[in-house]
Amino acid sequence: MAFEALRRRLEAAGQGHLLRFWAELGEAERRALGEQLQGLDCAALRGCSSSALEEAGGRPGLDGRMEPLPRAVLGSATRDAERLPEWERAGLHQISQSKVAVLLLAGGQGTRLGVPYPKGMYDVGLPSHKTLFQIQAERILKLQQLAEEQHGTKCVIPWYIMTSGRTMESTKEFFLKHNYFGLKQENVIFFQQGMLPAMGFDGKILLEEKSKVAMAPDGNGGLYRALGAHGIVEDMERRGIWSIHMYCVDNILVKVADPRFIGFCIEKGAECGAKVVEKTNPMEPVGVVCRVDGMYQVVEYSEISLATAQKRSPDGRLLFNAGNIANHYLTVPFLRAVVDIYEPQLKHHVAQKKIPYVDLTTGQLVKPDKPNGIKMEKFVFDIFPFAKQFVVYEVLREDEFSPLKNADSQNGKDDPTAARHALMSLHHCWVLNAGGHFVDENGTRIPVIPRIPNGRPDAIPADVHCTLKDANDLPVQCEISPLVSYGGEGLEKYVENKEFHAPLIIDENGVHEWGKNNV
Ligand code: UTP
Repeated sequence: MAFEALRRRLEAAGQGHLLRFWAELGEAERRALGEQLQGLDCAALRGCSSSALEEAGGRPGLDGRMEPLPRAVLGSATRDAERLPEWERAGLHQISQSKVAVLLLAGGQGTRLGVPYPKGMYDVGLPSHKTLFQIQAERILKLQQLAEEQHGTKCVIPWYIMTSGRTMESTKEFFLKHNYFGLKQENVIFFQQGMLPAMGFDGKILLEEKSKVAMAPDGNGGLYRALGAHGIVEDMERRGIWSIHMYCVDNILVKVADPRFIGFCIEKGAECGAKVVEKTNPMEPVGVVCRVDGMYQVVEYSEISLATAQKRSPDGRLLFNAGNIANHYLTVPFLRAVVDIYEPQLKHHVAQKKIPYVDLTTGQLVKPDKPNGIKMEKFVFDIFPFAKQFVVYEVLREDEFSPLKNADSQNGKDDPTAARHALMSLHHCWVLNAGGHFVDENGTRIPVIPRIPNGRPDAIPADVHCTLKDANDLPVQCEISPLVSYGGEGLEKYVENKEFHAPLIIDENGVHEWGKNNV
């Protein structure tokens, strides 16, 4: 009887094919599929998929409606270098009062990387073989320590980690196995985002197995609904948190709870802020933060004409150059308003994906090699227009952004090799800035090539920056544990006026140098 009602409901919604294999299923499989299908709100799904598909056609006339960011909302880690100590102090002060939390988006499926476990568990092949989760956990530990040393108070930076149905169990197990990387278990809070069915281009929901609907996480903007559903904002309020730093799991260089960014946002009285890197190539497929009809938004590269992407301001930089790296600041009161009021207004976007599905005729599982359907996703940045005070903070890409998206391939981009090189190259610079030197096997100092970000000398920060490469044009291997240094500080006592052979590792047990103690 219940089956008949279900069948009628699905057929009326054009989804009757989901019961195609019912006759072949055993009792337990029927029960599982039945439960999954009972939970589907087909009418709501049809509504959001058709509005998402409509939007996929593009937002009309966007080119003419875009304006660059006003100077008043901008801060820069390079052009405002003299303000950095002040912002850092303000950020560390708030951290020392336990008013800062970090919010990690780790619910993605990492389909491009293609490993069967959550991306945060990935080891990009650093000398230490630390995973992304471990690197981030240790940065939190170090920051707590820095804030405590500066202000003499014990403090906590709670870490809220959003997972999805596909990543929750393995993520939790991993943290447990590694003893939360030294953090207190009660300060690492996991919660799960929602899932939505994946559909073919014809709007028909796909089956992942004969008895299982293909489900996908509802995008990183699924965050806001999940925060509400799991009482996370209440937890933040209870702990007296004011500032949230939100970021993506795949950025190996992420400055978790960056005190400078937090201090800048506090000084500006911002409810919401975006950390960006300069977009220098008009064709780079990155979204830019700008204003559209006077409201702050992210505009994707694919939404505008090349002529707009190529526009330049009088200083020669691209007019729309604030490259979004999904690295944001939010206050808890703003987050509360987003969860309570604005979340339902956020639209779904369509992502075309390769979705494995069971062929309805043959019953075989098909793994497509090109996109065959859509997933519906909300985006974290869709809340920008609701912020009364919004700011943008520009940092150097080579210091803060190297996302792990793809599996290794020749000349690959955003892959494990690129992430590993980015981290080691940055740590190199830290050693040089702290007065250390690298020598080759003959004892000759390796020449330092000035690092001119994006080819613009005016963007060089006050400290020395350089890229060091070895004879094979690879970055010299150098890794500094986050437990030793959060952002390059405090290294003088290890490296000043010393010469090193790579690989060099500096960790809580001291300095390890190749050939000396066999790293
Ligand atoms: P991406 O959009 O790059 O997706 O996520 P992904 O899952 O990592 O990789 P692909 O596209 O399947 O290859 C950017 C960030 O947003 C998070 C991811 O975990 C990553 O930190 N994310 C993405 C979520 O938390 N939930 C989602 O539903 C999607």
